[in-house]
Amino acid sequence: MADISFKNWPFFWGVATNAFQIEGARLKGNRTESIWDDFTKKNVSVPDALNSPEREVASIAESADYYNKYKTDVNIMHHLGINLFVYAIDWTRIIPTGNFVNNEGVRFYEKAFRAIKNKAITPVIILFHWDTPMWLEKLGGIPSTKEVKKHFRFYVATVFKRLGKLCDFWLVSSENWAFAYYAYIEGLFPPNYKNDYLAFVKVLHNLNVMAAIAREEFDKAKDEGYIKARAWLGTNFDFCPGINLHNNKKLDNLYRDWNLHLLLEPLFKGTYPKVFIEFINEKKLYFKVNLRDIHYLKKHPLDWISWNFYRPQYFTEINKPLVLENEKNPSVLHSSGKYLLVWPKKFNDEKVAYTKWSWLIKPEYLLTGLKEIQKYYPDTPILIGENGCGDFDTVEVLNDGTQVVCDYDRINFLKSHIQQVMKGRAEKLNIVGYCVWTYCDIFSPSAGYRKRYGLVRVDFEDKKLHRYPKLSYVWYKNVIDSDGKTLKEINDKSLTEQFKLIAKPENWDRIIKYMK
Ligand code: BG6
Repeated sequence: MADISFKNWPFFWGVATNAFQIEGARLKGNRTESIWDDFTKKNVSVPDALNSPEREVASIAESADYYNKYKTDVNIMHHLGINLFVYAIDWTRIIPTGNFVNNEGVRFYEKAFRAIKNKAITPVIILFHWDTPMWLEKLGGIPSTKEVKKHFRFYVATVFKRLGKLCDFWLVSSENWAFAYYAYIEGLFPPNYKNDYLAFVKVLHNLNVMAAIAREEFDKAKDEGYIKARAWLGTNFDFCPGINLHNNKKLDNLYRDWNLHLLLEPLFKGTYPKVFIEFINEKKLYFKVNLRDIHYLKKHPLDWISWNFYRPQYFTEINKPLVLENEKNPSVLHSSGKYLLVWPKKFNDEKVAYTKWSWLIKPEYLLTGLKEIQKYYPDTPILIGENGCGDFDTVEVLNDGTQVVCDYDRINFLKSHIQQVMKGRAEKLNIVGYCVWTYCDIFSPSAGYRKRYGLVRVDFEDKKLHRYPKLSYVWYKNVIDSDGKTLKEINDKSLTEQFKLIAKPENWDRIIKYMK
């Protein structure tokens, strides 16, 4: 176990992003295909109306081309002032087939993370974000226990050995629930299995075993001097705090077991909540969590938690009348089959706020969720690893050519969530930092390029994929400069003035190209 004391550290203000959504160069540098390359090539679908929230699936071959533009991006991030950069690297770039280590892929990450470190930004590396190499998928993918154990061990051992010196904060995988659910039950993410409950439970379990494998290799790499003794290994997880529409304690516990305990207990305590085993039995799945795995998990717990918070979820008993239901978003049965997830129009007479993609906006649940996690993991450091607002952005071009995106809704979203972070800090919760999802516009798995998340606009129509600051970029810069004390209003004149100055083409070009 690592030394996980952090109380005297400065707070981390960062951004987070992920290889298949930003990197491009998908077939460059000896890389082969992953399941997201395959999926986005075969399922292209672009809705007619520009501002339609309907799902867009578009090519990720180039995306924002971080692979070729990382130097520019590092300059921008440095100007923004962040001190943390969370990046999910690409397994396929490093291991493009079986046992072959691709030096060119490794060298790309060495260069990119070195550039980050040279600007005094601390990198956090995520090892797996839903993007299984196609060669492994053909062998059965993540549900295929034997293959995945062997190949993931080889991959992580390679990464720790080759990139270990560049990073002290590691996360094994991203959003295990989202991957297992959307890829193996809903069929929305590759490999697009539908209602395959056996694969679903295997994926959830194998991702935990993969974390234990990573832990074992991580500790070896420490002993061999590839990684610093004080380095941390953790998980990046997706917990949506629950809002119970009926005051039903039993249902509350059930919700917590499925949404919180199932995701953390195996990784930190080596145990599963009863609901998981009951589910396997009820569904008569040909799968057993064997004792050997349990011992292995117990022996290899993780150090820290990165929590991605976008929204809470309303839930209710299956047979209760759903008077509040919003016709546009019918309720859905949770995969446990034990309760419904609901998108109400109103709650307690208050209109419920949603993003344009019907994601609930309730910032106060960031603090509620933090407290809930800390209640069960009182000594574990917690990073807010992702928080952001997907929106259609409108671009105005000023007379001098300045391109302007006044993303007021995004600023209001970030502001209300950062206020909760600041409350958490004031209450001395174990929160080590906060990251905006995401640095620049990228491919969104649920909505392609029309769902923009970036603080920095990417002009996807322009061959050069030019970057421009949005108003939220300047707003977040003020937050960082003041360590969270300055949360400017959208109509604050000083914000607009500062924005105009930074966005002026000659000034912005200097930031992009010439910053040392
Ligand atoms: C997170 C994922 O759950 O949600 C990201 O880690 C994703 O990969 C983000 O981009 C937002 O989701 P979406 O589908 O709106 O892009």
